Amino acid sequence: MQVNLSRAAANGLDADAVVIVEWENGKGLADKLPAIYDSGEVTGEFLQFTLLHGVSGFAAHRVLLAGAGKREKFDAPGLAKLAGAAVRFLKGKGVKNVVFALEDGLNGAEHVEAVARGVLLGAWEPDRLKSKKEPKTSEVESVVLAAENADPTLDAAIERGRVLGEAANLARDISVEPPNVLNPSAMAERARAMAEASGLEFEVLDQNRMRQLGMGALLGVAQGSAEPPVLMVIRYKPAGASGSTHLGLVGKGVTFDTGGISIKPAEGMEKMKYDMAGGAAVIGAMQAIARLKPPIAVTGFVPAVENMPGGKAQRPGDIVQSLSGKTVEILNTDAEGRLILADAISYAKQLGCTHLVDAATLTGAIVVALGHVSTGVFTNDDQLAERWMHASKQAGEKMWPMPVDDEYMEQLKTVYADIQNIGGRWGGACTAAMFLKEFAGETPWIHLDIAGTAWLDDAKPWMAKGPTGLPVASFVTLALNWK
Ligand code: BES
Ligand code: MN
Ligand code: ZN
Repeated sequence: MQVNLSRAAANGLDADAVVIVEWENGKGLADKLPAIYDSGEVTGEFLQFTLLHGVSGFAAHRVLLAGAGKREKFDAPGLAKLAGAAVRFLKGKGVKNVVFALEDGLNGAEHVEAVARGVLLGAWEPDRLKSKKEPKTSEVESVVLAAENADPTLDAAIERGRVLGEAANLARDISVEPPNVLNPSAMAERARAMAEASGLEFEVLDQNRMRQLGMGALLGVAQGSAEPPVLMVIRYKPAGASGSTHLGLVGKGVTFDTGGISIKPAEGMEKMKYDMAGGAAVIGAMQAIARLKPPIAVTGFVPAVENMPGGKAQRPGDIVQSLSGKTVEILNTDAEGRLILADAISYAKQLGCTHLVDAATLTGAIVVALGHVSTGVFTNDDQLAERWMHASKQAGEKMWPMPVDDEYMEQLKTVYADIQNIGGRWGGACTAAMFLKEFAGETPWIHLDIAGTAWLDDAKPWMAKGPTGLPVASFVTLALNWK
């Protein structure tokens, strides 16, 4: 889909449809359309859409009155949703070209970025493998943002929106693939293709290399599957890097999580194909980072495995030695994400990362705690956390701080090894984070538990069901904001 900026007035631009923002009780076009406003049909309530044909004074064939709610409460994330929902509303109606009118007050850089990103996220569908598309869906091919008084900075803003939208959609393309197609090696090929097209350095550590290095925690998870594990390393180095900051982004890439020998119940198990959404987000973020060029070095790490209960699978009771040297007693083979992340985090530290952010669909417990609204944020460093909360707010991705107090460590103690991989029934998201914290050590680190936010069980007006692409935008914004 093409997304472009125009400095012409929206009503003069020819298109299949022009989107006009309608504020609550605003009656924006009342002089042109008295009857429809008199009927009370158009209230301007958020996401209320009214489609009209042949409105005088507009070159476009249709006018879509798009309810934006109360003007005082409206912000850039709301605008992104409105733009995405407008595209989803129009695409079933044979509309191919859309003009989105940005009036004064809605034509700042953050607005332009939000609309560009929102329309790209809204247009995405999870139907790649459907032979016949839904009969009524037509693709929207082009969106023009009409901002009459647009200042020159808006060209950079629309590019940012495009890059972030396309990067999140790449993460969604990878996450939505079925687990028979997207095994660890296939995931690495997707990352390689992205890296080659983006001019990033790319490397894969295979099973032999992992054995040489001593990544016993990661290898233990992989051993029950016929598919070999991989650890992807994707490097971005800016030309004139300022300072010595080296950010490491680490994403859980479990291409399917059966639970292993501690096998999961059958119902809903198919959803465990999205257990690689953190890894997909790292791949998407690295694509955007290559295009937007933040001032710091960033390396992406994606450990990818399939957690299966094969004849060689690890057992509850096994003790493995991680890359850090620490021994881990496996009490539940379904707590596999923390094991592969432990070795990836240690490896990121070995490669010189000074700051780490990991994203993982790590626990069902975080879904109990925060539902499908906010991502759980765990950290050992207040300064990094502050940067993170600021970046994620700017990116419109909701995050909520969670505790990693020392008391939780009690739940991970065992007499047989240095640490055990589960912490019992209570505070499951916190003990999982506490496990990772042991491996992050003194390195400033953030852990994001995205189990509740990486996937939509039902479509939203602004987004199809399936993968959300979160937290690609926050990752990229964190790197761009670094000074
Ligand atoms: N991938 C799951 C977590 C998950 C659950 C993601 C629901 C998305 C939706 C993870 O590997 C897992 O199985 N966690 C266990 C940990 C437990 C065994 C300590 C869980 O949350 O039940
Ligand atoms: Mn699991
Ligand atoms: Zn898992």
